[in-house]
Amino acid sequence: MADTGEKVIFETQLKQEIMESFDWKNLSFGYVKTDYNTRCNFRNGKWGELEISSSEYIHMHMAATSLHYGQAAFEGLKAFRGKDNRIRVFRLNENARRMEHSAHGIKMAVVPEELFRKAVLTAVKLNEKYVPPYGTGASLYIRPLLIGTGPEVGVKPAKEYLFMVFVTPVGPYFKEGFKPVDIMVCRGYDRAAPLGTGRYKVGGNYAASLESLELAHNSGFSTTLYLDPKEKKYVDEAGPANFFGIKNNTYITPSSKSILPSITNMSLQQLSLDLGMKVECRPVEFEEVPSFEEVGACGTAAVITPIRKIVDPDTNKIYEFCCDGKPGPLSTKLYNKLISIQYGDEPDVHGWLDFVL
Ligand SMILES: Cc1ncc(COP(=O)(O)O)c(C=O)c1O
Repeated sequence: MADTGEKVIFETQLKQEIMESFDWKNLSFGYVKTDYNTRCNFRNGKWGELEISSSEYIHMHMAATSLHYGQAAFEGLKAFRGKDNRIRVFRLNENARRMEHSAHGIKMAVVPEELFRKAVLTAVKLNEKYVPPYGTGASLYIRPLLIGTGPEVGVKPAKEYLFMVFVTPVGPYFKEGFKPVDIMVCRGYDRAAPLGTGRYKVGGNYAASLESLELAHNSGFSTTLYLDPKEKKYVDEAGPANFFGIKNNTYITPSSKSILPSITNMSLQQLSLDLGMKVECRPVEFEEVPSFEEVGACGTAAVITPIRKIVDPDTNKIYEFCCDGKPGPLSTKLYNKLISIQYGDEPDVHGWLDFVL
């Protein structure tokens, strides 16, 4: 660029073009094609070089273990554009660690943290123009995926794997955004078995949740509330998000072997402590739920989604929570704190962010 003046004009024009290229404020949580994805193959016992692809398709053997035996794990994290136009990725290391855990859980090749990091940061950087502008409430969803690609017919782990990362700009997961939703207790379904794969982020858990999610949606609810699969006595998760309740200035969230350890939840526990609240991570009996002052679902996609009503069709009971249909005060504080860190409006005192640009 010839001089600083031209550079500023160029950047302003680019910003304007990005702003006008999408209806950012009305993006849903869905797939939008971007330009590139990153890929790496595991063959002969080792990972190859990271590749860049502009194809949305994968060429794969028909006997690949991911297709038959569910050797498929994924992650979900987000990149945010700040007021300063810099792009921040939230808690990349934790997602790398969780994918490692999932890979061990279903006997897949482990993606080294450095490869995970490079694949994510490269994919975000190459698709920089799809990172929504600051102030639109949208973000770039990052989807790392690890699948068994090697052919097997007997039930056993593949010898070959593909790790890839694609990105897509998204709006809120629940169309309500940061507004309270109604959810439904699903006693007739389990998304995971008591000693099963619920704590891993693997495809099979999501397949197992589809029927109950459809039932909840068709009955007018945003999502399901799963109880523990062994006794149906404790709260597990809220669809594809963790559950939390707040009472007596305490953030309470279930500990359970059949739920996914949410990175958002982990962050909210830290932020609760930072705000002077207490934190309890322990089994939560469903019977305790009515005593909560505020309840919510949390996750990368859901951020914090306050819950207004929990309906239990089997007992015909309805539990309602604070506060005239508005999010509760502590949920609001936590939400604001979390998104302020993610968008760079507050200092990242815990070192949760990686910068792409
Ligand atoms: C089943 C389930 N629970 C919880 C979460 C929330 O986890 P995180 O906060 O890491 O996105 C997700 C989403 O990733 C999920 O799919």
